Amino acid sequence: MAVKLKENIYWVGVVDWDIRDFHSHETPFGTTYNSYLITGEKNILIDTCKEELCSELIFGISEVINPKKIDYIIAQHSEKDHSGCLEDIVKISGAKVITNEKGKELLSIYYNTDNWEFIIVNDNTTLKLGDKSFKFILTPMLHWPDNMMTYCIDDKILFSNDAFGQHFASSKRFDYEIKNYSFHYAKEYFANILMPYKSMVPDIIEKLKCLELDMIAPAHGVIWCKYINNIIKKYEDWIFNVKNKAVIVYDSMYGSTRIMAHSLACGLMERGVETKVYDVSKTSISKIVTDVLDCKYLLIGSPTMNRNVTPNIGKFLTYLMNIRPYDKIGVAFGSYGWVECAVNKIKTVFLELYYKIVEDKCLTIRLKPTTEDIKKLKEFGRKLADIDYD
Ligand SMILES: [Fe+2]
Ligand SMILES: [Fe+2]
Repeated sequence: MAVKLKENIYWVGVVDWDIRDFHSHETPFGTTYNSYLITGEKNILIDTCKEELCSELIFGISEVINPKKIDYIIAQHSEKDHSGCLEDIVKISGAKVITNEKGKELLSIYYNTDNWEFIIVNDNTTLKLGDKSFKFILTPMLHWPDNMMTYCIDDKILFSNDAFGQHFASSKRFDYEIKNYSFHYAKEYFANILMPYKSMVPDIIEKLKCLELDMIAPAHGVIWCKYINNIIKKYEDWIFNVKNKAVIVYDSMYGSTRIMAHSLACGLMERGVETKVYDVSKTSISKIVTDVLDCKYLLIGSPTMNRNVTPNIGKFLTYLMNIRPYDKIGVAFGSYGWVECAVNKIKTVFLELYYKIVEDKCLTIRLKPTTEDIKKLKEFGRKLADIDYD
């Protein structure tokens, strides 16, 4: 269904209500693949969607123009959730494909582009296409090497591709249409997708601050209109600000590591540290890492199981290595039966992430914590909060 953004500019994307896993990022609210159509002297499509949803995209375009009349497709990113219908649309329309050098390379691997006519843009290239002018902002590794944004100069709309996205399927297209809009969806998206590349974000934010912005139209989720300044400020917060917050993630077989987690939490809370405790077997990893994004302390606990961490903690550690939240204070803890291995496995991951590791004998407990052990763990939690780490 086409939705008007401004005169001659439409959302023609597809709502994916059913997706629940976006390459391991859990998406309990689905997502959208946002394509935008600009009509006028020239008809321009910005991004497409997944291949299997192509008919829905074509239907949306058809509500505005005959898809055969598309003159240009701006392919901001070759990942298949945005490029999946390019072959079909190029075939139907013969449109020229506007992308950057890297984008052309990647698209040429995915698709048979022999007969495609490419227009290659660089950072800051401006192009006049019919009655509209566009400026291209290359954002490599946010989160693929070919990502770029497109700024429609005449209408002050930034088509930001994956940046500022949210995995959130809704019947609403604009932020102001959603009552009590929560930035949580945007934060979860940032934590799970952009966190590994967050060092690239400050330069991009500086570039965006030079633009007049009426809308930021991302490739997923709602379009930012009312909260443009808020979402830019949120991105800055998520990059730079660490809260006085602890996230404790644990798995437990018979409750011993759970008691340890809760005891550590008590000590931290007594010192006023905002504390979140997650049983990894009960909460989605995507949700947990959203809290990890701005925490100061990350405590991970696992019982030793067959000389290793539990499979649930193993999965969490793999995910952590994938999204690489740096600059944390790491604490590993856990119970064991006859040989302790889990704590060292967790510390290995902390070392790879350059965490400052805080250790203590009380963090490994044989089989079951005693009352004395619980006291020591609470005391450790308090000390952890009291240490000056600078
Ligand atoms: Fe992407
Ligand atoms: Fe995407």
